[in-house]
Amino acid sequence: MTIDDTETTSETTVAIGTDSADRLAAVMASRKRGDAAKKATGRADWSSWPEYDAAANGLRNYWYPVFWSAELRRKPVAVRVCGEDLMLQRDADGVAHGLHDRCPHRGVPLSMGTEEFPSTVTCPYHAWTFDLSTGELVAVITDGPDSPMCGKVSVQIFPVAEAVGLVWVFIGDRDPHPLSDQLPEELRNPPKYAVGGRIEDRNGDWRLYAENGFDEGHAKFLHRRSYWRTFKTMPTWNVVHIERHGRWIYRIEDERHWDAEFPGLGTWTNYRWWKKKPRQQQGKMLGNTGGAKKNDPYIVSQDLPGFASLSMPGVLRIAYPQFIHYEFYVPIEDGKTKYVGVMVQFKKGLAKAGFFAKYLGGIRWLFHGQFSGQDGWMVEATDAPPERLYRPDISLLEWRRMIEEGNPFDDGYVSPGNSVTDASNSPGVDR
Ligand code: FES
Ligand SMILES: [Fe+2]
Repeated sequence: MTIDDTETTSETTVAIGTDSADRLAAVMASRKRGDAAKKATGRADWSSWPEYDAAANGLRNYWYPVFWSAELRRKPVAVRVCGEDLMLQRDADGVAHGLHDRCPHRGVPLSMGTEEFPSTVTCPYHAWTFDLSTGELVAVITDGPDSPMCGKVSVQIFPVAEAVGLVWVFIGDRDPHPLSDQLPEELRNPPKYAVGGRIEDRNGDWRLYAENGFDEGHAKFLHRRSYWRTFKTMPTWNVVHIERHGRWIYRIEDERHWDAEFPGLGTWTNYRWWKKKPRQQQGKMLGNTGGAKKNDPYIVSQDLPGFASLSMPGVLRIAYPQFIHYEFYVPIEDGKTKYVGVMVQFKKGLAKAGFFAKYLGGIRWLFHGQFSGQDGWMVEATDAPPERLYRPDISLLEWRRMIEEGNPFDDGYVSPGNSVTDASNSPGVDR
């Protein structure tokens, strides 16, 4: 039974009182029962979100970024996505291809193979040779040029595309939608930009990574001592609501509290004398780093309703005044996630070189390393369900709701339109 079921049941019980005193007594008794039930139950499983619940291995019919474009050469590499094994390889013309990573002969991974003829891959064992574009067996070196196997065998090919410095593969059961439809809108036709990032296989469920990324509650506590935040303080607590715009949900801050007095316990704050409090300019600011002196005009022109947003199939966008940080939580298989963290700065020329120097000199380690390493540490430690959700968790409830709506790129998908949700109208959290 969920929290909501409990509450509904208790309210139904009290509707049949006779006089007002009886009614009040019944209400009180029912509340007590409700409270006891709440304390005892929480959410035992994820059955209220069947799509989400069934997606331990990932969601299908999406593009997933899996490798750096610059690092993919003519030597095959292995990647695992949504429980599928693929090999990626560039052909003689520089085009990237994806094939099922299994030789049909005896099952050796083709990613262990080599390119013996242009734009093919040859299995290292008995030299069956496959065309990279079609997956067809085009030669069996150890069986002579007239091998009767040729033309009879092929391996599955996967659609592959490249964007934002990344190689993407489409994992699905239908023809792919264009990758550009799935890219964050600001990356479809952007001015020149620089990209820095980190790709790392991590233990932990991709769904929990996505929730952690968009989670309102944790950053101000978990990351309070991260080096990335050494000189910038974070609030103690916030009130937020979630806005839905198109295929993105945005977390938007309504209140910011730097410190708080906890009854009977004392004061708690993240503030230290050496830390700067970001200026709060709601509406103008991009992120809780506060409004920078100079916000990037292209980022400002996007008019993002909030600095943190999330879209399917697990794409987090954090807009800072000078750059945008993206996290793609790519399902490898149940309990394993490929973390793809990408920082994009819309700069060129010398400014671009400056960004790279800054990125390689510090950001890569501080932000994509230690800071997001803390997230990995917590996701690995998370053991849910069962779970009890609190007000800041409206962020993850909205994400689960979005998964239940289905794939926005499928035929017949109906967009639910824009909406605003706060803790007072979100079922499923204790208020
Ligand atoms: S297993 Fe690949 S050629 Fe024999
Ligand atoms: Fe975090």
